[in-house]
Formats: sequence, C-alpha cells, structure tokens
Amino acid sequence: MLTQEENEFLTRVGPGTPSGHLLRRYWHVVGAASELTEEKPKKRVRVLGEDLVLFRDRSGSYGLVAEHCAHRGASLYYGFVEEDGIRCAYHGWKYDACGKCLEQPFESPEAGFKDKIRQSAYPVEKLAGLLFAYMGPPEKKPVLPKWDVLVRRDGVKTVEICQVLCCNWLQAMENSVDPVHTYYLHSHNLKLQGNPDHVPFHYQRVSKIEFELVVEPSWAGIQKQRIFAGDNAQVEAPHPLIFPNMLFVPVRMGYAMHFRTPIDDHNTRIYQFRFRPTADGGSAAQLDDPPAEFVSTKNEAGEFHMEHFSSQDHMAWETQGPMADRGREHLGESDRGIILFRKLLRDQIQAAQNGTDLLGINTDPKKDEIIRLIPEGYTAYSHRVAEEGRSE
Ligand code: FES
Ligand SMILES: [Fe+2]
Repeated sequence: MLTQEENEFLTRVGPGTPSGHLLRRYWHVVGAASELTEEKPKKRVRVLGEDLVLFRDRSGSYGLVAEHCAHRGASLYYGFVEEDGIRCAYHGWKYDACGKCLEQPFESPEAGFKDKIRQSAYPVEKLAGLLFAYMGPPEKKPVLPKWDVLVRRDGVKTVEICQVLCCNWLQAMENSVDPVHTYYLHSHNLKLQGNPDHVPFHYQRVSKIEFELVVEPSWAGIQKQRIFAGDNAQVEAPHPLIFPNMLFVPVRMGYAMHFRTPIDDHNTRIYQFRFRPTADGGSAAQLDDPPAEFVSTKNEAGEFHMEHFSSQDHMAWETQGPMADRGREHLGESDRGIILFRKLLRDQIQAAQNGTDLLGINTDPKKDEIIRLIPEGYTAYSHRVAEEGRSE
C-alpha cells in the first residue's frame, strides 16, 4: 500500500518529476520507421508529457523537436520537411534535427538572430525499424542497447503499435512481474470462451514462480520463471522485465519485446516487436523497416475485445484507473514481484536524483556489445510444446 505521495513519486513522468527524471536517462521507442513515408515524413507525438514532432528530413536524418516553434509557437507538425530540416509553416523559420535554427526568411542575416535560437530537440536512432529517442541530459546519453532479438539478421520481424493505453505506464510494468495473472485473465478467460487450445498452461500445474533481480553492465531487470509440477517437471524460458519499461517474452514460435512508452501521466503507447525464425534459419524476404501494424484493443462501443491477449491485458491495466490508487490495494504473497520492482524503481529514482550511476546504462561506445536475452540452450520457443500460446 502506498501513500499518494509515494504513488506520484513512482508514476509521474513530466519534466522535473522524480520518475520523469529517471525515465529520461533511458532510450524510448517513439515510433516505427515505416510510419514516416515520402508523402508524410512527419508525425506528432507526445512522450513523457512533452508535445513533439518526429520527422525524417529528405537526407534521411531523423529529428524529434518540440512541437511549438520557438518564434511564436505555431505547430511544426504543419511544417514543411526539407533536405536538412523542418520549416515552420507560419513564417518559415527552419530547424535541423538537432534543433539548430538554420533560416529566418524575414530577419536580416547580419543580425545573427538565428544563432541565438534553439528549438528543443532530442536525438533519435533507428534499430530494427523502431525509432528510439533519448530525452535526457546530452552529456549522459547512453549507447542505444543492442538487444539480440532486434539486431539478428535472420527470421521475420514485425512491429505492432497498440491502441493508446489510457493509464499510467507503471500499471503495464507491474503486470510484467505479475505472472499469475496469466492463469485467470488469459487462460481461464479463453477456456470459458470455449478456446481450450489456446490455454497456455493450466494453473494447477505451476508449482513455483521465481523472481531474480538481474544486474548486468548493459541491462538490469527482474527475471521471472515458472516452474511446472507434474510428470515432466519443467522450467520455462525466463522472460525478464527489462528496467525501466520493457518486457522480453517468448511468444508463439518466437520472441517479442514490448516497449511501454509513457505518453503522459495517464496514457501509454505500447510497441511490440516480434521475431519469428524461419524453418531454415535464413532471413525471410522483408523490408528493412518492418511495416507497423495497428492493434486495436477495443470495439466500436469502446469495450475491450476480451478474446485477445493484448486486449485482456489492456482491460486489466486501464480499469485500475488512469493512475491506480495504490493506497487501496492489498498485496499478497503472489505480488512479491511487484514489491521487488517498486523497490528497484524507488532506488533508481533516488540514484538519478543523487547523480550516482544507474542500472542498465552503458555510456561507453567501446562496450557496445549485443545484449543476450535469449537464454543459452533454449530454442525459439523454449522447451515447451511449440504450438501453445504464451503471454506475459
Ligand atoms: S511561428 Fe514559426 S516561424 Fe513564426
Ligand atoms: Fe498478460
């Protein structure tokens, strides 16, 4: 149970908030490269409570700039994307991807006024068709982590963009250390709908769930693993919560990474990257930037589709409220992963405030190694029955 003050300490994401300060020290997915096209190379995005415009200039550089022009505040979303930047549609001021003001058509060049202007801008890097942005202090910018699932060259990759989740990001993350929900929210629900083939595990077969805090130089998080009882006692492939807002998960015939990017305190955008190996281990013909598919979680009446895993999860997270009141909860023994994660988050927020090193951040380009999440000895879908589904 948390007081309102503790709850806000952990959840609020805007500039100047403790948690927002921590989150700004990590890279976040802000879009899929395939969303920016020749015809429309720009997109309005809201990230960590800031209104921004994401664009790809005609030379191929990505930019993420504050939406409102430094001149008199018109939206750069309506601007013109050019070879080397974006030009405001109101009076033509032009900015490059770094926020440098390149031109002011109605100011005399001798005055050097443009050199005094800076549009807020954040670096963007592309990896596996996802666009990642870093919104923290430039001198502390980490190397963009090279997760093994994202950098491998074989298989088939897809990107899914979920319908906006109308609640705070922490609700989605707490779910990633709540493995028991699978047995009711997903399994039992599907069973009741007459879908026994899609029931991943029967809850009676689980004997134990283990959590382990992982602290490596390049990533940190909470590894969770189910241990199954029965004739063939088994251990599933671990699927870690990656600090602060990611999840790695074995899914049907492959792997997925979920990125939960806070839009603001009460909304979250979830990007799901999926990797599926081909039968011969080769690479399927595909585009460099996998097309992004939109995942709808609600029907036209605004109710959740309860037959799909993602929608079931969204239902559970959203109905806890736009920002769950953790002063009213009653945590039991099965919630120990949540308690562990909150402690980790609290400690790291404090570390960010104190200026000490944070977990899972590498700032040395010489140590830019591939981060292994797929455990040694597991096939694409772990040791369990390949046709069974898997949720988080
Ligand atoms: S408001 Fe953008 S150029 Fe004037
Ligand atoms: Fe789930």
